[in-house]
Amino acid sequence: MAETAKLVVGSEQVELPLFVGTEGERAIDISRLRSDSGLVTLDEGYVNTGSTRSAITFLDGERGILRYRGYPIETLCANCDFVEVCYLLIYGELPTRDQLEAFRASICRHTMLHEDVRQFYNGFPSDAHPMGILASVVAALSTFYQDSLDPHNPRHVEVSIHRLLAKLPTIAAYSHKKSVGQPFIYPQNERSYCDNFLQMMFAVPCEPYESDPDFVHALNLLLICHADHEQNCSTSTVRMVGSADANLFACVAAGISALWGPLHGGANEAVVNMLERIRDDSGNVQKYVNMAKDRNGGFRLMGFGHRVYKNFDPRAKIIEAECRKLLSKMSIRDPLFEIAQQLEDVALNDDYFVERKLYPNVDFYSGVIYRAIGIPVPMFTVLFAMGRLPGWIAHWVEMHELSNKRIYRPRQVYTGPTEREFVPVNQRG
Ligand code: SDX
Repeated sequence: MAETAKLVVGSEQVELPLFVGTEGERAIDISRLRSDSGLVTLDEGYVNTGSTRSAITFLDGERGILRYRGYPIETLCANCDFVEVCYLLIYGELPTRDQLEAFRASICRHTMLHEDVRQFYNGFPSDAHPMGILASVVAALSTFYQDSLDPHNPRHVEVSIHRLLAKLPTIAAYSHKKSVGQPFIYPQNERSYCDNFLQMMFAVPCEPYESDPDFVHALNLLLICHADHEQNCSTSTVRMVGSADANLFACVAAGISALWGPLHGGANEAVVNMLERIRDDSGNVQKYVNMAKDRNGGFRLMGFGHRVYKNFDPRAKIIEAECRKLLSKMSIRDPLFEIAQQLEDVALNDDYFVERKLYPNVDFYSGVIYRAIGIPVPMFTVLFAMGRLPGWIAHWVEMHELSNKRIYRPRQVYTGPTEREFVPVNQRG
């Protein structure tokens, strides 16, 4: 007999089925709640509400577990590059050698932008934030591919997926070149995904460019760590917009906009700004930990805390280790890394953070690596978007494959004025 949940309201009782996932997570299926009881649920920020069933990523916030399609993030970081993880997330299985080579070759064929897209960059101010450029240009891509926007046409979907994966690094690198007034650098298809991005970011037409292999390795690891994270704010946004049958470019542009928020993907930029503020304030870490504990102060330790992880964020551990390795290889003493380590030590020994289970998250150390590679701070969240793109795509595809797919349209509880008489303007006070 399947387990159920009984809800008693006054003299009424409603019995609701329980749904159990493959990892033993249990959920009350309230699909029939309103039709059976007239009731709806309330849950600001969806802290307790599952929006869907998903087979893409599993998180265990208590045990610090993160798996993509069943593979632990630590294993994928140690054995794959980012393109292979893109394939896994989007198609559900690790590719064979031939599948992977075909996937890489196809992405290589789509790295260039239509030459007219380059005109857009002339219109942006030189200090335009690259996330604003990214969201605008990605949405505009839909106007260049009007023949392949149907979310229900597998051929349209496949070519759009490859175009987005291939072109996001080009769009991102162009926005950096725009900000420094240098010529845009075309992609070079014989280079790997991350090597190609670095050359578009840092090469100049007047001399050859070779990427530092340590930077290529660190970038692959960072993009893999950011590739998916189940129903986070930006992924839920992509699914929400996608549920209306909007084209994939429009949905990803919406996800980019959500990610821009400093409470979400924008946190990596905010972390470095915070660490620089502490450095310039004679490294007084305790002062800022105390500020973060003052609920009325409005200051938060950026890069700390997480809605799901109530233990360590496994990505933070992987990124911190890579940070340490890269800085020592480069013989760099980055004061921001040292301040970050002090901040972590002080916070993790402070009751305020321990009681609230606030640990460093994925954004806490990533910026230190980006700085070591030479990525400017405003580009940090752009790299988060490049990493998260396969996750957004995988969830968008999964949402369309649902047999019971419906447009997202949450209910609410109205708290405004009840009906009242209209007063003509000449009779108002
Ligand atoms: C990402 O969802 C995802 O998976 C996101 C992400 C992904 O991969 O997609 O993991 C990426 O967005 C990581 C998070 C990056 N954001 C930051 O680092 C910004 C700083 N962190 C917070 O603002 C906060 O921790 C959130 C937004 C991450 C989580 O917010 P919640 O779950 O709504 O928690 P909350 O704001 O209700 O905080 C609970 C308590 C509060 O104190 P009390 O009201 O109980 O007294 O913890 C406090 C908060 O004031 N708190 C912090 C804090 N984070 C939470 N206090 C100080 N510093 C912080 N960073």
